[in-house]
Amino acid sequence: MNNSENIVYLNGHFLPAEQATISVMDRGFLFGDGVYEVIPVFGNKLLRLEEHLHRLQNSLRRISLPNPHSNDEWSKIFSDLLAKNAGEDRAVYLQISRGVYEKRDLAIRPEYASTIFAMVLHVTPPDIEVVSAGISVITVNDFRWGACDIKSTSLVANVMLRHQASEANVDDAILIRNGMVSEGTASNVFIVKDNVLITPPAGRELLPGITRDLVIEIANNNTILVEERGIREAELFDADEIWMTSSTREIAPVISLNGETVASGVAGPMWKRVMDLYQQYKQLLREQ
Ligand code: PDD
Repeated sequence: MNNSENIVYLNGHFLPAEQATISVMDRGFLFGDGVYEVIPVFGNKLLRLEEHLHRLQNSLRRISLPNPHSNDEWSKIFSDLLAKNAGEDRAVYLQISRGVYEKRDLAIRPEYASTIFAMVLHVTPPDIEVVSAGISVITVNDFRWGACDIKSTSLVANVMLRHQASEANVDDAILIRNGMVSEGTASNVFIVKDNVLITPPAGRELLPGITRDLVIEIANNNTILVEERGIREAELFDADEIWMTSSTREIAPVISLNGETVASGVAGPMWKRVMDLYQQYKQLLREQ
């Protein structure tokens, strides 16, 4: 197989992306009726695979879709997919939809098989120099539904919220629900106040980010105080540092909020410390 081709996985087969097609009756296409995962890969090792598969299981359970594979089977599919594509640092994208029904009907019919699709995302790991320059964000009203803990492919609300950020010429948005911070459009939010790392608790208002959990673990292992508690919107404007975390962004320092500089307007000392520890964690994974 030519290693420069983009080989994807679709329902048990590996094939070039341009040959991978699904039916227009697929419920993922018609209803956004599916879930997904994005798993970072460093040195061909999947970062926190078990945790990603655990979250996948939770998303599937929440939408009443049986998990089509065991963890060992998923692991084999991902390693085969990675072996068929060139590269070392990248990410695996996995999507499972409720499959192809004959009729367009909201009712669930368990006899139909789900559609399973995976591909390699060629995300370039963020360059530390570029990341440390920071990002600018605005706060926007979080009008999404009450099931944000599901990593659902129904992302139109997130698309609309990100568009609000683009229209305001900033990089991203921090979502506010009833005066409280929930998360970013595709990331979790942390603030630093008086050397304490604060992030909203897991719940239905936000996706339990794997990067979020890793940042908390790193902090706990390095005697950095962490509080998982609600953050009022007003606290953002008084924070020493604000970060946004995700598998693709890693840990991005926010340097501008609603047009105002955050603290001194540069990536803060706590960010430097935790980002350094995060990079060390990645390096250990590469060397394993
Ligand atoms: N998004 N919150 C939302 C709404 C997200 O979409 C994501 C990730 C996160 C962070 O989760 P993690 O640390 O596990 O990446 C939080 C992925 C990267 C995406 O949609 O591409």
